[in-house]
Amino acid sequence: MSIKFEHVSYIYSPETPLEKKGLDNVSFKLQDGSFNAIIGHTGSGKSTLMQHFNALIRPTSGKIEIAGTTITPETTNKNLKELRRHVSLVFQFPEAQLFENTVIDDIAFGPKNFGYDNEKALASARFWLKKVGLPEEIGKRSPFELSGGQMRRVAIAGVMAYEPDILCLDEPAAGLDPEARKQMMALFSEYQKEGHTVILVTHNMDDVANYAENVLVMEHGKMIKQAAPRDIFKDRNWLQEHHLEEPKSSMFAAKLQNYQFAKLPLTIADLVKDIETNLKG
Ligand SMILES: Nc1ncnc2c1ncn2[C@@H]1O[C@H](COP(=O)(O)OP(=O)(O)OP(=O)(O)O)[C@@H](O)[C@H]1O
Ligand SMILES: [Mg+2]
Repeated sequence: MSIKFEHVSYIYSPETPLEKKGLDNVSFKLQDGSFNAIIGHTGSGKSTLMQHFNALIRPTSGKIEIAGTTITPETTNKNLKELRRHVSLVFQFPEAQLFENTVIDDIAFGPKNFGYDNEKALASARFWLKKVGLPEEIGKRSPFELSGGQMRRVAIAGVMAYEPDILCLDEPAAGLDPEARKQMMALFSEYQKEGHTVILVTHNMDDVANYAENVLVMEHGKMIKQAAPRDIFKDRNWLQEHHLEEPKSSMFAAKLQNYQFAKLPLTIADLVKDIETNLKG
């Protein structure tokens, strides 16, 4: 039951002066249980693509097969509950996904909506509140009193609490500090290792290198490349042509290739000091 996009295009505000192509003839397949990253410049179509996975928006042309559902331009909002139980999306601005009076009710909403009884939904909400690294007391508070980073974690917990098979995350770690980002990425990785499919939009190439096994590169609404991270990042010229960054380690390794030591380092301390002094930035 892999995920399949066939010639998917999407046009915003068609046949109006504001008409804008969001996706342009995108085709690909993703394997079940894989960790996928979607990268590309701002405005390249990443969020537009993400919103197709759970039919939040439907293709203007083309066809999607996902979790046993076929999505076409004719697909209506009816009968999508089953799809959304299997495929869930954390928005790029997940603060907008919160709406209940308390954090715990907010996280429990999804599980209840998808058929968990009250007790099981609350148990799942408490479990995921802890999993995203928030203390139990926060459960009683209003989600709107929280910091941006805390709201983001609540939104993530709310989507994970009914354990969708396919978890779509649109820049879920944006705005989190490095420690929190690491925690969240570890959580998604663990979720994938348990057998779920993860699809992650990110601008962070270190996260791509660390976690993804498959990368889709978007540009002007087109998917211009699909490959493993090693194949994406090995061609520095191609990356530069497409204004894409590379992981910090690759950048560092590239700099080291022509590196001249001031003097031969005899100790690790000397080695580190030389590199630190001469390779700043
Ligand atoms: N609601 C909308 N109405 C009209 N055009 C839109 C709308 N949303 C996005 N677009 C346009 O569609 C294109 C793709 O946008 P999208 O949000 O998918 O890009 P993105 O890759 O997610 O960018 P970012 O990295 O900034 O989040 C852009 O040119 C954008 O301006
Ligand atoms: Mg986006």
